[in-house]
Amino acid sequence: MSTLSPTRRVYIETYGCQMNVADSEVVGGILSTHGYALTGDIADADIVLVNTCAIRENAEQRIYGRLGLFSTYKRRNPGMLVGVLGCMAERLRSNLLEDELVDLVVGPDEYRKLPDLVERAFAGERGVAVRLSRVENYDDLTPLRTDGVCAWVSVMRGCDKFCSFCVVPFTRGRERSRSLESIVGEVRDLAVKGFREITLLGQNVNSFRDGSHDFAELMRKVASVDRSMRIRFTTSHPQDMSQRLIEAIAEEVNICKYVHLPVQSGSDRILGLMNRTYTVDHYRRLLHRIRKAIPGVALSTDVISGFPSESGADHRMTVDLIRELRFDFAYTFKYSPREGTKAWEMEDSVPEEEKGRRVWEITELQHAIALEQNRELIGTTVRVLVEGPSRKSPHEYTGRSDTNKTVVFPHTDEQPGELADVRIDRANSATLFGVRAGDAIGAASQSLRETAA
Ligand code: 5AD
Ligand code: SF4
Repeated sequence: MSTLSPTRRVYIETYGCQMNVADSEVVGGILSTHGYALTGDIADADIVLVNTCAIRENAEQRIYGRLGLFSTYKRRNPGMLVGVLGCMAERLRSNLLEDELVDLVVGPDEYRKLPDLVERAFAGERGVAVRLSRVENYDDLTPLRTDGVCAWVSVMRGCDKFCSFCVVPFTRGRERSRSLESIVGEVRDLAVKGFREITLLGQNVNSFRDGSHDFAELMRKVASVDRSMRIRFTTSHPQDMSQRLIEAIAEEVNICKYVHLPVQSGSDRILGLMNRTYTVDHYRRLLHRIRKAIPGVALSTDVISGFPSESGADHRMTVDLIRELRFDFAYTFKYSPREGTKAWEMEDSVPEEEKGRRVWEITELQHAIALEQNRELIGTTVRVLVEGPSRKSPHEYTGRSDTNKTVVFPHTDEQPGELADVRIDRANSATLFGVRAGDAIGAASQSLRETAA
């Protein structure tokens, strides 16, 4: 029913979690089937869509900055539309239309309406669609993917956990799962198209359920589609991480040995106020179980510093836990009050400067631990899925190990999507460096021959 010229070009910019990346691909799919073309050049665009994140105040500030920049393009090209999608659209709704920069506001469950809303906006009718759904899961839609190696596949949407600091249950609504059959079908299709790594996504993947099928079963089914394809998942809640899932990760060869498990705090009192529904001891035992069942597993976590009433002693407990548990990676955030959440009603009692100091202390400690963990890998050979040229040099390639470590090595003749065995010779806290094992062995045997001769 579209009367639009097929030449209209859409530029999509994405912020926030991987769920947003996956959603932007759904949006790209919807718009391209309605005759729009995607462009990577904002100056060339008729429509600019920004898929937003509302998880912390600074995420929103960044997006306001971008909207300011888009207005300069709009001045040059007054016919250009600007649309705000995602969590910030859901949170701020029609308020976003108050400034003249925005023509469209579309929440995460309303993307099917985009072609219609865009068409109306071109006719001068600015639109808002922010209803949350109990059923929308975009199960039948094909996302438009631009990367040909790694694909994100959303398996469930929303979150029912209501952690007291978190805006996600309000911006993304109730939990709902896609069907196992359609997920496996999508993964089969991706295998045929040559994708080499699949990450199953959800705010709390352990809540995935399709009749009697749980997430562990889904992981096993997805892993069996093509054993040469790597399978990852994110994110799990420590309360719901099942033994069945741990066993699936341990047993299925192509499920990556890496688990992201947000702990948030090392103080039971703070965890209680956060409504996390587990204790530090539960978390500690869970981590031990994972490490025992999956030798060599890498673990990462999220921590929030400066939650309301967090004392110096609470903070110390978090520092001690980080020291004890030795994660491979930790994301540490300053607590940011979010309107509408339970914690919003609590006094934001830790000064910004102190939050910053606590984050810094945890980050420094974690860097030192990660450096030690990474240095232990020097001399070993890790299998890397090649993703492409490294950011720093066109002569180097970057990829990730099974355990999600970034590995950089000199470019020889490999292509993105290939597996390379890299012998690690150097490491910092974020990256491993090395050479192709074949090259190293080749060089070594060459010098042996030379010695023998
Ligand atoms: N303030 C700071 N960090 C937050 N997170 C979620 N909400 C907030 C908030 N209000 C963090 C949590 C979560 C990660 C995705 O973002 O650590 O695991
Ligand atoms: Fe937010 Fe908690 Fe749900 Fe994660 S589990 S999305 S932190 S409410």
